[in-house]
Amino acid sequence: MSFRRKIVAGNWKMNNSLSEALNLIDGILSNLDTRTTAEIIVCPAYTFIGPIINHLKDFNRIKLGAQNCSEHVSGAYTGEVSAQMLKSIECDYVIIGHSERRIYFNETNTQLKEKIKRALENGLAPIFCVGEKMEERKNRTHFNLVRDQIKNVLSSFKAKELEKLIIAYEPVWAIGTGVTATSAEAQEMHVFIRQIISELFDQEFARELPILYGGSCNPQNAKELFSCDDVDGGLIGGASLKANDFCSIIQSF
Ligand code: PGA
Repeated sequence: MSFRRKIVAGNWKMNNSLSEALNLIDGILSNLDTRTTAEIIVCPAYTFIGPIINHLKDFNRIKLGAQNCSEHVSGAYTGEVSAQMLKSIECDYVIIGHSERRIYFNETNTQLKEKIKRALENGLAPIFCVGEKMEERKNRTHFNLVRDQIKNVLSSFKAKELEKLIIAYEPVWAIGTGVTATSAEAQEMHVFIRQIISELFDQEFARELPILYGGSCNPQNAKELFSCDDVDGGLIGGASLKANDFCSIIQSF
């Protein structure tokens, strides 16, 4: 287990009604072992962020994140939500570059760079997702691909600007498939990512950077994944929709 911050973030994707979302939060609250030291984040749809923050009142062990934000500051972008809007409702994190956004909404590295800029300008912590498709792993181009995803998006920033950055390694073939990367595969890629970050910035920054694993992480495999030296927690999809499962993942450190 690493000495870095431990983080478990739930990516609820496009699921739940408002009452289901609030029930899920209540379920997490009642199952949570309050002695846990992990940073806990839930990322519901935009519409539920404000109501959940109100519902949690002064209980600040659960932080809120969005699943996306606009690359623009403000203006005539119908349907978009800005980083500034998120900050104004006390949302603290934002997932950027999830593979579903890259694949279904054609988000490019140039856009992702702008989204990270907007997030940082507004004091939001970006959870920047990278990861290869199965074909790339089979071709053995997965390391180059992840290197490019990181370099093309992060290289124009200074380490100081990226203090809030969190990276999530999410192999696309593991997302929602029930197939998880082995702990050896996750550890290998996390070490590689830390190496790239160290080359782009410096060793100290790379050493402190939280790198989460995502892709079919569940209560059965979380302990083994989180026991890897360079895995600092998880970005959880399906299993974050069940309070018991999410809490047992949080308690897997
Ligand atoms: P999964 O999703 O846990 O359902 O595989 C992870 C994610 O998409 O962040």
